[in-house]
Amino acid sequence: MTILVTGMAGFIGSNFVYYYLRRHPERRLIGLDNLTYAGNLDNLSRLTEEEKKRFAFIKGDICDTELVDRIFSENEIDGVINFAAESHVDRSIHDPQIFLKTNILGTQVLLNAAKKHWQLPDGKWRSLNSREGEETRRDHSPRRTNNEQRTTPKFLQISTDEVYGALGPTGFFTEKTPLDPHSPYSASKASADLIVKAYHDTFGLPVNITRCSNNYGPYQFPEKLIPLMINNALNHKPLPVYGDGKQIRDWLYVKDHCRAIDMVFDDGQSGEVYNIGGHNERENIYIVKRVIEILREKTGDGEINESLIKHVTDRLGHDRRYGIDPTKITQELGWKPTIMFDQGIEMTIDWYLNNREWVEGVISGEYLEFYNKNYKI
Ligand code: NAD
Ligand code: DAU
Repeated sequence: MTILVTGMAGFIGSNFVYYYLRRHPERRLIGLDNLTYAGNLDNLSRLTEEEKKRFAFIKGDICDTELVDRIFSENEIDGVINFAAESHVDRSIHDPQIFLKTNILGTQVLLNAAKKHWQLPDGKWRSLNSREGEETRRDHSPRRTNNEQRTTPKFLQISTDEVYGALGPTGFFTEKTPLDPHSPYSASKASADLIVKAYHDTFGLPVNITRCSNNYGPYQFPEKLIPLMINNALNHKPLPVYGDGKQIRDWLYVKDHCRAIDMVFDDGQSGEVYNIGGHNERENIYIVKRVIEILREKTGDGEINESLIKHVTDRLGHDRRYGIDPTKITQELGWKPTIMFDQGIEMTIDWYLNNREWVEGVISGEYLEFYNKNYKI
């Protein structure tokens, strides 16, 4: 099988490439990424020589209709996993337009190419390349009732829990929760979800949508809460907490997200949405204090302490609480998180301590300019 993975030079995409090539030694990935400030090809430098043979990279924009069409013409693509997006809420508040272009139009360009190249003249969908030689699945033992393998290509849209808006103090997002996005970022992701649904409902394109909660782990760009706090604390810089810091996010270690994506891609029922989350809700201020505590222990640096915390003006339209109900993916596909927060945050902090040159590399240039202009304290 050959799968087109877009946005694979970013945080989740690069973690997914490592996970997937190891998990499926018979499959090939073609990566498409235009390497924005958030995309970094070095993220994939640790692939083995054998894995590199099963991975091809194309630098390009998912909005480029001709390029995307050419990729489909020149390769027999058996599936698309669309990670490519502008992903940072603060940036979307500052400058929404690129979010609409990449996240909505780019998704539609990919859907259109998939439809064009996968649909047969009789309206049916072409068959997958033979899976002969593939391992018989699988250690994640799906519980789906229909035990047959998928026979058609599939388009998997990587969406987000933010499309559901914000929760009050109780309740969870289920797949039936109405879409109610608040930021330009989440509105663009919700729009993309609706276009994906439209291609399924109108044309019958085999699709899934996953909506995951906040991820953390290696290779996350240090504009997002956890890596930003790690990096600022190591440099004794202020730790900017928006508003009262009591907003709640539901944190999932990125590898558990990658496992869920793999399972939905192979076994998700076409047309269905799957929420992904591990019931790990924490207030932002808890996260910041925990990062300080672990970093101080690991480095012995007494200057890393709570006096670095600085409450700053709240994010506009800031969603108060997210919380995922993962019952559907657990019951249908047998997915469960395997890395609990206390373990995951240690692993993440260790990774950032061991990869300080990576951080320096990615925060030079455009990011720094943006950060200084918008978030200087
Ligand atoms: P990221 O910002 O780290 O990476 C995005 C990648 O997409 C980058 O490599 C970037 O270069 C690429 N890209 C951007 N515009 C592109 C374009 N026009 N054409 C080709 N490539 C382009 O994002 P992430 O955190 O890895 O998120 C990946 C996906 O997962 C996004 O769709 C996001 O909405 C979704 N998601 C993220 C989280 C999270 O906590 N980070 C949670 C749930 C869902
Ligand atoms: O829920 C999934 C979403 O999680 C993804 O769809 C997004 O792509 C991803 O960026 C993330 O969005 P958030 O806005 O939740 O993540 P961020 O790391 O930007 O912020 C997490 C929380 O921390 C949020 O409540 C805002 C707060 N925050 C963030 C930053 C960067 C601060 O208090 N200070 C900060 O400096």
